Amino acid sequence: MNDKINLKRRRVLQTMGLGAALVSTPSFPIILKKEAFKRKGRQATAAFAPDVEIELTASVARVPILQGRQTQVWRYEGKVLKGDPASVVTLPDNYLGPILRFRTGQRVRVWMKNRLPQNHIIHWHGMHVPFEADGHPSYEVGPGGTYVYEFEVRNRASTNWFHPHTHHATAAQAYAGLAGLVIVEDDEERALPLPRGEFDLPLILQDRTFTPDNQLLYDHRGPLSILGFLGERIVVNGKPDLALEVADRSYRFRILNGSNARIFKLAWSDGEPVTVIGTDGGLLERPVIRPYLMISPGERYEIWRDFRGARGREVVLESREFKGTMPPPYENALGSGGMRDRMRQLMGGGMGRMGGSRRGMGMMGSEGMGGMGGMGPMAILSRHLPQGSRMELVRFRVNKKSKENQPLPDRLRSIPRYRLEETVNPNQPRPIALGNQGRNFTLNGHLFEMTGASKIETFPVNTLHLLEIFHAHGEMKMNDGHSDEEGSGMTGMGNMNLAMMLAMAHPIHLHGAYFQIAERIAPHGDSEHGAEGYETVKDGFVDEGYQETVLVMPGERIRLIKPFPDYKGLFLYHCHNLEHENAGMMRNFKVV
Ligand code: C2O
Ligand code: CU
Ligand code: CU
Repeated sequence: MNDKINLKRRRVLQTMGLGAALVSTPSFPIILKKEAFKRKGRQATAAFAPDVEIELTASVARVPILQGRQTQVWRYEGKVLKGDPASVVTLPDNYLGPILRFRTGQRVRVWMKNRLPQNHIIHWHGMHVPFEADGHPSYEVGPGGTYVYEFEVRNRASTNWFHPHTHHATAAQAYAGLAGLVIVEDDEERALPLPRGEFDLPLILQDRTFTPDNQLLYDHRGPLSILGFLGERIVVNGKPDLALEVADRSYRFRILNGSNARIFKLAWSDGEPVTVIGTDGGLLERPVIRPYLMISPGERYEIWRDFRGARGREVVLESREFKGTMPPPYENALGSGGMRDRMRQLMGGGMGRMGGSRRGMGMMGSEGMGGMGGMGPMAILSRHLPQGSRMELVRFRVNKKSKENQPLPDRLRSIPRYRLEETVNPNQPRPIALGNQGRNFTLNGHLFEMTGASKIETFPVNTLHLLEIFHAHGEMKMNDGHSDEEGSGMTGMGNMNLAMMLAMAHPIHLHGAYFQIAERIAPHGDSEHGAEGYETVKDGFVDEGYQETVLVMPGERIRLIKPFPDYKGLFLYHCHNLEHENAGMMRNFKVV
């Protein structure tokens, strides 16, 4: 069934690549149409006694985002049915939310009511929950259906989130607005002298493209359907141009990158370094200081910032320029790639020009980058904010006076280290190979299969494993030196294989319990992007904490140690570039 869908998808892409100019721009609600069918869902079990019981309804709504006309969105609305009324925090006039607040050890029941015109299922990203509560797409329910989640909160204090995990529709549904935070607290974290209340703020980073009448545009044609959606403007906490009034004191920011494919390189405009106190899985042992912080889709980081000394001024949280995360033809087409001249030569000079040359871009259009050839680099430039551009995210106006302040603690909380010798396979890491089949990205050589899991994807419950994520097409030489230099578009393209043209960074996410990064092995000098791009991002990784999503740069190898405790069943692992996930860059771990 999967292959059929992929074949169909590929044909559609080809058609669009060829005839892009003839297709009128579809507006958001139209392209969301997907055959909806009813599934029963899941009912509550009598044996489960919840401490907190919540109703979450997914439906179509209108909210103010831009000046003028309201925007049609899809969003969740929450209601506490039982337990602490503070478990659900509604964000008024917003497509985001609600924020759910749980405590470690609580038993939670959530009634998800699907009032969307499409199948739906929620995944609790970062939460370690049983298979039936994890939002596997095999559990999605049709319009009008209800799915009841029951789980115990086993996470330590951390900032997690929830979003759709509907088969082939996660990207569009999340883009339509469906996402919220899950903040888990525990006693140890509560006891720490960290900023609280109004000084503990979430920042949800996203990008969107709007039509002239303020509606969301999810343009799934052309290169961004393959590279991942990148919007025209930045939206933080559901608002464009977010500006916050803050006091001259310390703050804790819980940052979620809730974008489909946008990567940020966070930095402070006043040159302050970034003080990171937490990752996906909560607080670090001690704060780490970075000149900037890379955050890819799905990831959370907690940062600490003291605004004393900035009174009366404006401080901007910005995303700085970077390179090396997108395929070389993309970066080159945008004129920011360092390999520009080399590529130009290889591709017969067609790369940088509008429309491209027949030989250079045409070839890519039919084989490499979907519609990029058909649309031309100029079309790409005009339709989105390029990956790696400099942008302002949030302006902080430091104009409130504060009498008290909380200094940065130098110890936060302990993290018991997973040790290599405790893993069952210290010398034979289980692979997560990032590859491609034509223009679809794969994991361990395969596209997603609903219930499929191979032998290397099967793990005995209650074990600790070493895993290694790497790019499967290791050596990708630009040019073997045999082609003639002048006008050798075709020859040059031949030397550069498809995998190389698609070489890009992937934020890889593993469901289940948090992992720890054991080793990050930098790309070697002759990798497809060269060292230049990597230099612009390498000081922004924080590998010291608990994580479940990690950005894997082209040519990079990541070794991680992951426990498979408590629960048997199918747990997804996938690229959190949501367009990649939807196109099949997702597989199951089978815990037995
Ligand atoms: Cu945030 Cu399987 O996803
Ligand atoms: Cu997840
Ligand atoms: Cu990916």
